[in-house]
Amino acid sequence: VLATYLKAPPSGEGSADFPSLRQPLPEGHGLAGRTPMEVMAACNPPEGGSFNNKFVIIGCGTSNHAALVAEYLIELVNIARIPVEVQYASEYRYRKPLVRPGDVLFVVSNSGETSDAVESLRLVRKCTNGQKVLIIGVVNEADSTIAKESDAFISVLAGKEMGVASTKVFSSTILTFTLLAIALGECTKNFTEAHKTALLEAVRALPGSVQEVLDRDTKIFKSHESRLEIGECVLWDIACQNVLANNFIFLGRGFCFPVALEGAMKIKETGLAYIHAEGYPAAEMKHGPIALIDQFMSVVVIAPKCDPSYEKIKSNIEETKARSGNIIAITEYQNDDLETLCQHVIKTPPAHEYTMPLLAVIEMQLLACMMGMLRGNEVDQPRGLQKTITGQ
Ligand code: G6P
Repeated sequence: VLATYLKAPPSGEGSADFPSLRQPLPEGHGLAGRTPMEVMAACNPPEGGSFNNKFVIIGCGTSNHAALVAEYLIELVNIARIPVEVQYASEYRYRKPLVRPGDVLFVVSNSGETSDAVESLRLVRKCTNGQKVLIIGVVNEADSTIAKESDAFISVLAGKEMGVASTKVFSSTILTFTLLAIALGECTKNFTEAHKTALLEAVRALPGSVQEVLDRDTKIFKSHESRLEIGECVLWDIACQNVLANNFIFLGRGFCFPVALEGAMKIKETGLAYIHAEGYPAAEMKHGPIALIDQFMSVVVIAPKCDPSYEKIKSNIEETKARSGNIIAITEYQNDDLETLCQHVIKTPPAHEYTMPLLAVIEMQLLACMMGMLRGNEVDQPRGLQKTITGQ
């Protein structure tokens, strides 16, 4: 994804590039002559102007969670500052879409065939008579219905995903939206040079950090190493100690809130382990979930120090500890202040606040996979689930 969408000269800071979004729209389209990138950038108001247009991002399941990360990114004041609304495609298709000329609809779908997403796209086409609303598909399958029926599409380039539960496509979709946000930031001129450089550096550091996490945490899958010493693979220890748990709560704030939703999904139905799990914005715990916390509740808290609200999430951990919850925290290597509060601490390489979801989610996916394996499940083919839902 990086190599394709980020021009990365050996020196200089490079720039995000989406050639397919820089081709003028064809004659007959209500926005003919303008490029998709220009239409998108125009959703950022001129200085002092008001927000007339917005992005609507729709998707189902994991694609919806990736869209939520995109919402945080694209709305950022120091990147693109464009209003974003995220909807489940399965709800959107039965509503009367409120889109205006100049709005942009993103249809996110790994397969490009999920019927709720396809029908939502067609509904917007019909309501707007194909005019003046730009429709962009964000898909992994470039030969799909959504790619074909959109005005333009972006391929997330994850390669074929074999398992039913979406994993690498989630990461690729978020990375694609991160690069798109950077490209939009360049078009809308909202970026300061320092901010842009910091974000590009963080993005370029990702492949190395992801590899580091995978190398460390997948030892257990290499058969000759299947007898690990305690502590050698923290994720495996956590999976073993929680294998009989019946309930999990996942908490995260900001960019890591959608990762909490995704972590819960991986643990439950699409989640390989068939354990009941819920994801919440951490601050919402006091509006319900807190009543469930006792020594039998496993609580996974994504608590990176790069998050400006770290102290608040730490206080959520303290509240959980006060109720004897079994706490599993995810934070960076250099942060040692959670060991005394939590039963387990999973450490990641340092990351930017905006790129941390891409590291944290791997820990969630691998934890779900290990728990599923320990429970004797078919982790690549969870019961009752399909890779692509094309029926009603
Ligand atoms: C199914 C799959 C999920 C996937 C969802 C949306 O429920 O089991 O893993 O996230 O469909 O699929 P899409 O292809 O539209 O991203």
